[in-house]
Amino acid sequence: MTALTLSTAGAATLRADALVVGVAKGAKGPVVAPGAEAVDKAFDGKLASVLETLGATGAEGEVTKVPAPSGLKTPVVLAVGLGAVPEKDETYDAETLRRAAGAAARALTGSKKAAFALPVEAAEDAEAIAEGALLGAYAFTAYQGGEKDAKNSKNGNGPKLPLAEIALLGAKPRDKAYKAAAERAIALTEEINRARDLVNTPPNDLYPESFAAVATAAGKEHGIKVQVFDEKALAKGGFGGILGVGQGSQNPPRLVKLSYTHSKAAKNLALVGKGITYDSGGISLKPAGHNETMKCDMSGAAAVFAAVVAAARLGLAVNVTGWLALAENMPSGSATRPGDVLRMYSGKTVEVLNTDAEGRLVLGDALTKASEENPDAIVDVATLTGAMVMALGNRTFGIMSNDDAFRTSIHEIAEEVGEQSWPMPLPSELRKGMDSPTADIANMGERMGGGLVAGLFLQEFVGEGITWAHLDIAGPAFHEGAPYGYTPKGGTGSAIRTLVKLAERTAAGDLG
Ligand code: BES
Ligand code: MN
Ligand code: ZN
Repeated sequence: MTALTLSTAGAATLRADALVVGVAKGAKGPVVAPGAEAVDKAFDGKLASVLETLGATGAEGEVTKVPAPSGLKTPVVLAVGLGAVPEKDETYDAETLRRAAGAAARALTGSKKAAFALPVEAAEDAEAIAEGALLGAYAFTAYQGGEKDAKNSKNGNGPKLPLAEIALLGAKPRDKAYKAAAERAIALTEEINRARDLVNTPPNDLYPESFAAVATAAGKEHGIKVQVFDEKALAKGGFGGILGVGQGSQNPPRLVKLSYTHSKAAKNLALVGKGITYDSGGISLKPAGHNETMKCDMSGAAAVFAAVVAAARLGLAVNVTGWLALAENMPSGSATRPGDVLRMYSGKTVEVLNTDAEGRLVLGDALTKASEENPDAIVDVATLTGAMVMALGNRTFGIMSNDDAFRTSIHEIAEEVGEQSWPMPLPSELRKGMDSPTADIANMGERMGGGLVAGLFLQEFVGEGITWAHLDIAGPAFHEGAPYGYTPKGGTGSAIRTLVKLAERTAAGDLG
């Protein structure tokens, strides 16, 4: 894990492998951003023109490396683009800083230590830079460099390791607000990076039982009560949805309950995550080209797990209960067939028309179970539908809810933490498409608006009168394109920052 410290050192005096500065896109070429004054001075005030000569424009995400002049204690200066210069009396917004810090950290993969001299006006800026840098300094290398000496990247055999140490300049290490900001960023990003690891771990190693074991261990470490329902307990309890999805696999399903409680909590928040450790589609098998990344289908459960642990580490004054609905969706002689009817935990029967619409089955059971405790709100998170990816693309998650104000709050919170999302409706006329001649409901409906159909299905399993929202993260959970900002290839940790901020807001009494 990359270490981060707030440093009082000046940019020109700190010893490191690289010094990161910001460069903005001015009207007449690149402009050196605040925080780098001493660095610019070491360049005799010519850093902007040096950068311009090297082709830098200050565009967002642009990275330019310059050999440092003798006045600096680092061999290299790395200028990262911040985009447009802020309007008069305004500062760089948090997401701009987060992405720039992430891009810089990524460009320093393989380095030991870097000092970040980006613009810091307030503790929130330091927090955003810390978050971005720590999220950018991420690599999933557990399965690389398997030959002897694998971990030793110096000999060229092993993978390049992420930037190991970050010193944040321009922050005030002794100021309470700055200290808290750094601590929050560290706890949050460690849990996000852990969730990314879980998502990236191949499905032959991450299956319901091994995921549950990770949750149990983390619970012990952070004072979270963890309860695991194994296949026997699930059968005894009548969890027909989770069992129906998991019964085709050699790896039996699990339902994991994580309970974080705080003595001064006034509110109870329940989080439910879809945890399909591999989605082959089951008997309704996905064709090649659609199953290679389906280890990511537990991203919702990973997000919920990370959010509960982060809430505990931050000591938030709210009770947060996480429910991980874990199963592996496989075809086999014991698998659920299209046409089978499952009896859900709620008692409702479901005709399974397509075994690839499995997420709603495991979530239905978990939503009913979570509702029994009558929480103030339930939020479920799931890589639920390809239709949501069609609608919103690869970077934006959809928000559905039975409460307009709650949906709006989540959308605003997501925006505030730098996660792209969009409110989606739950049109009641789509419900009849799921009418079944045999059971109470079918697990599939109209193709058009498939993401909303899935949301309507889930809504049927939410307890009467409970405020509920559903986040469909099928687009942003797993990034297949080139890395950008603080977003790596593979698991992204989508929705975690939104969930943690929601818990903070709930603790502060700002919601409902
Ligand atoms: N896990 C998939 C959804 C998905 C698609 C996640 C792409 C990430 C990227 C889900 O279980 C699924 O297969 N959904 C089907 C539902 C359909 C059969 C009603 C879909 O979206 O095609
Ligand atoms: Mn599926
Ligand atoms: Zn799925």
